[in-house]
Amino acid sequence: STPMLLAIALGYLLGSIPFGLVLTRLSGRGDIRDIGSGNIGATNVLRTGSKGLAAATLILDALKGTAAVLLAELLWPGSGRYAAAGALVGHLYPVWLRFKGGKGVATLLGILLGLAWPVAAIYAAVWIGLLLILRISSVAGMVAAVSAPIAASLLGRPDLTLMLAGFALLVVYKHRENIARLAAGTEPRVGRSRA
Ligand code: G3P
Repeated sequence: STPMLLAIALGYLLGSIPFGLVLTRLSGRGDIRDIGSGNIGATNVLRTGSKGLAAATLILDALKGTAAVLLAELLWPGSGRYAAAGALVGHLYPVWLRFKGGKGVATLLGILLGLAWPVAAIYAAVWIGLLLILRISSVAGMVAAVSAPIAASLLGRPDLTLMLAGFALLVVYKHRENIARLAAGTEPRVGRSRA
């Protein structure tokens, strides 16, 4: 239907804003894609040495997901889930960056906040908990993404389970270089500077 397509387009447009790339460039730190893992996300922005810039990237990449869901719900009630899908795909595959986008961990947090905040709370707890324990951003993010469909089914939102399982698959797929580094034992940890 038309509202569904509009919600997907709105989500994609917002999701595809690469805040990590924009903020890093605006602050005179060059192209984030030439640094560390080359990813445009908050973890890699942290490798520029700026915690503030990394925090801003995390927050803005999350809020664009929340904004997409809430704005779509406001404009076309019931269309939030389509905006959610559009926003995640927009972040992972932005046309502006020749479809080479981020890995979706922050954007998924914001999307969940807009769709079902209890699921977002579990996701955030899993993510932060694992990050503090392991200090490996990719593992924390992937496990959090996988926890989302499980949390949805346990917290009274089984209607979201299938879509969130699809989101988790996408997020894990986008981490395939991290998975290769984890297998090789070369994945860097956060908090021990190794820019
Ligand atoms: O959110 C991205 C994170 O999970 C991995 O980032 O830069 O270590 O590949 P990076």
